[in-house]
Amino acid sequence: MRILITGSSGLIGSEAVVWLDAQGYAVLGVDNNMRREFFGPKGDTSWMLTRLHERTRLFTPMPADIRDRSAMLDLFEKWRPDLIIHCAAQPSHDLAEHQPGSLEQDLVLSRANLSLDNLDGQGFLLPTD
Ligand SMILES: NC(=O)c1ccc[n+]([C@@H]2O[C@H](COP(=O)([O-])OP(=O)(O)OC[C@H]3O[C@@H](n4cnc5c(N)ncnc54)[C@H](O)[C@@H]3O)[C@@H](O)[C@H]2O)c1
Repeated sequence: MRILITGSSGLIGSEAVVWLDAQGYAVLGVDNNMRREFFGPKGDTSWMLTRLHERTRLFTPMPADIRDRSAMLDLFEKWRPDLIIHCAAQPSHDLAEHQPGSLEQDLVLSRANLSLDNLDGQGFLLPTD
């Protein structure tokens, strides 16, 4: 089974990567370190990516933006995931209060890009929000 995890360097996504890799699944992780943009240098997830490389055997990271429709469609075509675990997000309620419109738009756009319609109805989408 081929698994795509969005937000693979985040809290939830990274745990899923390590666990699924240990079970022997091929995991593709999409994360563009957007957390750094949301929270500044303290939010940088580069250290987590290094850790994932150390702790996994079959993990493939990809620094794509899930809001980029053509990048996502290209990825689906090449990788054909059976399961998408969608963890990429801006997780702070406080931050969302200050930038409500843009975050909502990002969420809707990302969901549309990850829609299983783009996978010809194959696969399964598991959202975390
Ligand atoms: N942490 C919790 O306790 C918890 C509990 C329940 C639900 N959730 C939900 O799970 C989801 C993930 O939460 P988290 O705590 O792991 O957040 P997190 O900030 O730790 O991880 C999110 C990851 O997504 C990445 N990302 C964000 N926008 C992106 C984009 N456009 N393209 C590619 N990557 C992008 C970030 O760089 C980050 O690494 C959220 O929707 C959150 O609401 C979290």
